[in-house]
Amino acid sequence: MRRAIIGGTGVYGVEGDSRQETVVTEYGAVEVDILTYKGQEIVFLARHGKGHSVPPHLINYRANMMALKQLEVTHVYATCAVGSCNKEYAPGDIVVMRDFMDFTKVRPITFYEGQDGVKHTDMSEPYCHDMVERFYKESIKHNVKIKGNAVYVCTEGPRFETAAEIDFYHRNKGDVVGMTNVPEVVLAKELGLCYSAIGIITNYCTGFMSEEEMDHEGIMEAMADNKERITGCVLDIFSDASLNQESCRCKHAVMNL
Ligand code: HPA
Repeated sequence: MRRAIIGGTGVYGVEGDSRQETVVTEYGAVEVDILTYKGQEIVFLARHGKGHSVPPHLINYRANMMALKQLEVTHVYATCAVGSCNKEYAPGDIVVMRDFMDFTKVRPITFYEGQDGVKHTDMSEPYCHDMVERFYKESIKHNVKIKGNAVYVCTEGPRFETAAEIDFYHRNKGDVVGMTNVPEVVLAKELGLCYSAIGIITNYCTGFMSEEEMDHEGIMEAMADNKERITGCVLDIFSDASLNQESCRCKHAVMNL
């Protein structure tokens, strides 16, 4: 049994001894780092590939998640850089995802293409409540200031949204916008993994709160500030022997028809 961190924009590794491994899946090969923390092997996967080379709509999400499954991962914390369309959440803030809305268009979205009959996956709790609660608790020790929970709006990208789109997401109770959490969270559920996503707000979304253009340096500063504390927090959660899959329903989300 192993645990994993998926690093999004700005989070490309975790400090410590690690070795690289290539995992071959039926969807493609995936490079991961395997680090040892307090005697336990933790898998680190850079979502966009090493050196941030894969754009959001072309990420091989199925290969990434299947690679984790093949490595016997049961729990995944993912980091995501997101824009804010909620006035309570400002650049630099950290939020924990509680639900999502899917506005993606062309990416493969499932492992179930009919080969094993018809399957539907329960999405009443996309993010593992046990992992969310543990993150809130552990965050206090690590001085990670969580601003609140968030509904993640996933867009197709790679373009940013129009002001009219952001106005629509805001009116419909989206809190943060990104391009990668779907289908990642969905595929995790299809594989019976416990999954939680931590958002680092890098900007206000287009036309929201400020007319400023997207500032790449600002994004990187917000990430650098937070990433060590977040990964430290996650590693300590992973080293708690009481972390298991018994107090949630993540393992049982797929339904046969
Ligand atoms: N929109 C979509 N994805 C993003 C944004 C945004 O404003 N900021 C960081 N990722």
